[in-house]
This record gives sequence, C-alpha cells and structure tokens, in this order.
Amino acid sequence: MRNYKAYTSKNHTIYHGDALEVLKSLPHQSVDLVFADPPYNIGKVYANFIDKWPSDDAYIEWCTEWLDSCTALLKPHGSLYVMASTQSMPFFDIHLRKRMKILSRITWHYDSSGVQARKYFGSMYEPILHCVKDAKNYVFNADDIMVEAKTGAKRRLIDYRKKIPTVYNSEKVPGNVWYFPRVRYRMPEYEQHPTQKPEALLERIIAASSNEGDVVLDPFSGTFTTCAVAKKLNRRSIGIDLQEEYIKIGLRRLNIQSNYNGEKLLPLQKTYLRRNGKPQISSDQLVLLESSE
Ligand SMILES: C[S@@+](CC[C@H](N)C(=O)[O-])C[C@H]1O[C@@H](n2cnc3c(N)ncnc32)[C@H](O)[C@@H]1O
Repeated sequence: MRNYKAYTSKNHTIYHGDALEVLKSLPHQSVDLVFADPPYNIGKVYANFIDKWPSDDAYIEWCTEWLDSCTALLKPHGSLYVMASTQSMPFFDIHLRKRMKILSRITWHYDSSGVQARKYFGSMYEPILHCVKDAKNYVFNADDIMVEAKTGAKRRLIDYRKKIPTVYNSEKVPGNVWYFPRVRYRMPEYEQHPTQKPEALLERIIAASSNEGDVVLDPFSGTFTTCAVAKKLNRRSIGIDLQEEYIKIGLRRLNIQSNYNGEKLLPLQKTYLRRNGKPQISSDQLVLLESSE
C-alpha cells in the first residue's frame, strides 16, 4: 500500500510522503540532476518532525539508504549535489566516493547574523558535494554560470604572453567556495521554513548541471525552492517532503494548486511591526532598501 500522495502539473510533481518510500517507487535512470538537502541530525524542528536520530550510526544508515536510491534514479550522465552538516559530511564523502566520482567539494559560505559563538569559532559555511556517475560524460554548462574574475586591477589586464596581446578574461567559472547570503525574513523569496536555501545557490547548480527539459529531483524539498528554480529555468522537477505545511508552499510556488482542502494558498503575509506595534517601515520600502544595499 502506498503511503504518499502525488500532485502533478505538466512538468512538475510534488510528493507528500517519506522520501525513502517515494524514491523507491520512481523509475531507475529517469533523473538528470538530484539536489539533496536532508535533515542534518541537529535537532531542528520541521513542523511536527524533529531532526534528531538516536545515534550518528542510525542517521548515517538512513542517509546511505536514500543516497543509494538517488544514485539508482540518476541517468548515466547524471549529477548529484548533496548537502550535510560539517560533522556528517565525511561519512557522506566516504560512502559516495566508492559509488560516484566526486568532482568538487564545495563550501557554501555565508554571512553571520545574530549571536555568534564566543568560546569557539562559529560555523559560517555548509559543505556540498558535487558528484557525477560518469566522469567522462556529464553536463556542465560553464558558460551559463560565469562570474566576474577579480584580478585586483582597476584597469583591464593585457596578456602579453599571447602572440597577439589580448585582454585577460573578465569572467571565470566559480571556484569551490561560494558566497550567497542566507535567506532572511525580509527577502522577497523568504518562506516559513527553518532552513530555506537561497534561490541563487540553486540557480547555479541547476544551470550548471542540467539542460532545459531535464528532470531535477529534490527528495527533501522544504520550501520547494529547487523545484521553483527548475521551473524558472525551464527544467522539469520532482519534489518530495514529509510535511503538509511545506507541501502547501510547493503547490503554490509551482502553481499546481491555488487551494488545498478548501484553504486558499496565499504567499506568506509578513509583518514589519516593532514590539510597540508601530510599523517600522512598509514592505515596499524594505524591498527598495534591500535592492539598493
Ligand atoms: C534541510 S530541509 C530542506 C530545505 C530545502 N532545501 C529548502 O530550501 O527549503 C529538510 C526537509 O526534509 C523534510 N523531511 C524530513 N524527513 C523527511 C523524509 N523522510 N522524507 C521527505 N522529507 C523529509 C523536512 O520536512 C524538511 O523540510
């Protein structure tokens, strides 16, 4: 018996259920790109799910099960990006390097906010592995993810080593340390979820490692940012989450349904009230302020 429910539009499917079960029901070699951002086993609360396993071993055992399912779902030229906590990533790395080719060990570095650790060096990054099934045949659209090459010079540098002196390239493929701000309440993309990933991070991954029309799978979708970005970039998507609250976000963001069991699915209504109840600033002004920072 199936314990999950599917919601589908033309190119996008959302599954409400346990990733382990849904992944096992999907056809092998049918997905071009997987982005997996699982619970990290650090005690976060995702609606009525608490992200804490009885032991590290139990957590790693659970992770290896869905990692193996994801690998089986990938097409022969497919790619997998997986995030994990800094303390669990070594286990992921050892497991995956026996099964796939790890091309890059990426660091997503972000700014800090709020209270910082005072007795140790606070964490300012999350690791991401970029793996492919076939190191000789995989998608990597370098031209679609170029960033400015910072030469440190104000004027454009000229390479005199070339036969005809040429201006140095002003663009390059990003290295493996990526800076993207975390998603904050005041950002237009913010949804009600404790660990939402930035659209910009997913844009880089999806643009680099898939082509238009390809299938992108996110087994732990949360706010369904992966699927929303896949849609924006004309990819197809499959997203899974256990929590009804987040399924509703996905149904709205992907325009699959505007109602859910009689409830109108509306974007998050944000308030910008100070504790004394007076408006601090209007949301329009905030958007303007943020875009000019
Ligand atoms: C780290 S969050 C993903 C955040 C997401 N990348 C985003 O940008 O919003 C992990 C998600 O996994 C979901 N989850 C936890 N256990 C699950 C399971 N067994 N199957 C499917 N989803 C699960 C949680 O509800 C949570 O939304």
